Amino acid sequence: EQAEIGLIGLGTMGRNLALNIAEKGHPLAVFNRTVARTEEFMGEAGALARRITPAETLEDFVVALQSPRRIILLVPAGQPVDDQIEALKPLLDAGDLIIDGGNSDWRDTNRRVADAAPILHMGLGVSGGAKGAREGPSMMAGGPDAAYAMVAPVLESIAADFDGVPCVAHLGPGGAGHYIKMVHNGIEYADMQMIAEVYGLLRDGLGMAAHEMAPIFARWNEGVLQSYLIEITAKIAATADPDTGQPMLDVIADRAGQKGTGRWTVMDAQERGAPLPAVEAAVMARVLSSRYEDRASAEALFGAGPTSLPRDALTETMMEGALIAGKVLAYAQGFELMAAASDGEDWAIPLPRVAEIWRAGCIIRSAMLDDMASALAEASDRALIMAPHFAGLLARHHGALRQTVSLATAHGIAVPALSSALNFFDMMRTVRGTANMLQAQRDFFGQHGFERLDRPDESGLHGPWAG
Ligand code: 6PG
Repeated sequence: EQAEIGLIGLGTMGRNLALNIAEKGHPLAVFNRTVARTEEFMGEAGALARRITPAETLEDFVVALQSPRRIILLVPAGQPVDDQIEALKPLLDAGDLIIDGGNSDWRDTNRRVADAAPILHMGLGVSGGAKGAREGPSMMAGGPDAAYAMVAPVLESIAADFDGVPCVAHLGPGGAGHYIKMVHNGIEYADMQMIAEVYGLLRDGLGMAAHEMAPIFARWNEGVLQSYLIEITAKIAATADPDTGQPMLDVIADRAGQKGTGRWTVMDAQERGAPLPAVEAAVMARVLSSRYEDRASAEALFGAGPTSLPRDALTETMMEGALIAGKVLAYAQGFELMAAASDGEDWAIPLPRVAEIWRAGCIIRSAMLDDMASALAEASDRALIMAPHFAGLLARHHGALRQTVSLATAHGIAVPALSSALNFFDMMRTVRGTANMLQAQRDFFGQHGFERLDRPDESGLHGPWAG
């Protein structure tokens, strides 16, 4: 029997996705550049191995596949993807399909889709980490309709399930799927950073031990904040290091890595003129975190930042409210960015579908995304913060965000993502801002011109300072 689908790249994601595909009943062929890795994988596959054909060469791999061939790549983003496509192309026939399941730059995917003929190319954002790949990821597809139609049944059978709805969708042409995955990761950065900031308040402001925080996060996970990230935060806080017996959090260095998707999201937002302050703050925080030597010198020079707070000043309810408001604002920024990209690239991204397929399987899955899906379905052109449900949450909780940010700031505890979300909110709801000063300055030094409130039909006006 020939394989229904092929998978190249047996790293963590590739192995888990392959097992998921085989488990759902699809005969599969696999290939990995290092053959030893393929043998090791076949050993791990257990009973599923009977549905998997291991190939030692790319030629054998291609021959093992039904026509038209469907090949999922799970190789590192960038040059390795182009190299793999180049190696495959001479072995494929017109109408065969290559699906790139890595975290590729959406512009690369745009180019690969455009250059693919006579074969087809599809960019597939896959979220959910190793466990998600094995048990059901959330998948964001971009590329030609015909490409998606070729793999929709397989993708729907392996995707996470939310109330009977598979968490996979064709979101647009070209690089649209990878674009949405990039923004997913940007939002993931902001969500994680805000949780880390509240962890800092609990640890440095209230002097709590990690195990004392675990039940707080666990309680929050029962309410509006119910989400995978809060759930794992509670578990992380409760975990001890098997070597030393200390809390795991206390032995992990505070230097965060990043593969780049968060930074890409920020750069893209800047280019489109879309405000994305919560993600910007999160990327900045990761960058600063890696500057350990500088932070040590500055602490020696200026003294440590955080000072403790009176225990009753900062309540659990206040911090929960801050996270709720911060989260609504960060996600609203992310959805606005996707709306801007959809217009700018002419992608017609179905935003309610994006929220729907993020409800399960992906790293940012949460109860709130279900409400976002409903709010966007009702009016997908309306900003999320204006949707009645989210406007209500913000009205109820922005005070808590303000109190939390004020207390943190007064005590030298850095909360860059929460405070940037608050500043965004305050700017958004102020009709008379301060950019009149910027316009005056620009006109003063460069005669850049401004508009007047009392003469709305005229532009390019100047002040009496031009001399
Ligand atoms: C997911 C994750 C996953 C991953 C990224 C971001 O949705 O499953 O977003 O794609 O964690 O690689 O990683 P960095 O934090 O290293 O940028």
